[in-house]
Amino acid sequence: MEIKGRKAEVLIKEKDIKEKVKELAERISRDFEGKDILVVGILKGSFIFMADLVRELKGKVYIDFMQVSSYNTSMESSGEVIFVKDLAQDIRGKNVLIVDDIIDTGRTLKALVEALKQREPSVLKTCVLLDKKERREVDFDADYVGFVIPDKFVIGYGLDWAEEGRNLKDIYCII
Ligand code: PRP
Repeated sequence: MEIKGRKAEVLIKEKDIKEKVKELAERISRDFEGKDILVVGILKGSFIFMADLVRELKGKVYIDFMQVSSYNTSMESSGEVIFVKDLAQDIRGKNVLIVDDIIDTGRTLKALVEALKQREPSVLKTCVLLDKKERREVDFDADYVGFVIPDKFVIGYGLDWAEEGRNLKDIYCII
């Protein structure tokens, strides 16, 4: 496949994503057993992963969204995190699971967790589908990780290249 004149090849197939989402949901459902879960999606990249994940979770699930911006150029991020959209509710005493598509430098999730902890949720966990571990710039790891991937530019299943490619069913890397 080609995108913006560059070649893209499948990195993770739709079928493997589906299996991984089920596996993650089982672990999360076990860990949150007997508790309501407020799933917080970080817009926009998480929207497809989150939609699939919540349908596999057991028990009572609520959803909300936040949006942060990290001053992105088209393929690189500068490291500064700005909160663009906040939650629509108070999370004090709630069991919160932050869901994002990818952790890269770690700055976004670290900043989010630090900010949300101040609001005193009862539980605060993080879940990402993809982890570019070798790119980490801050000391932060997600509680639930789908796939550790190499430092390649990836698109599809919610992830974009300058807003293109979010609707692709597989995850591709640009080569
Ligand atoms: C991506 C991704 C994470 C963040 C991870 O969002 O969805 O939120 O970057 O990077 P970090 O670990 O280096 O902080 P992006 O800014 O591309 O926005 P989008 O989700 O709207 O595409």
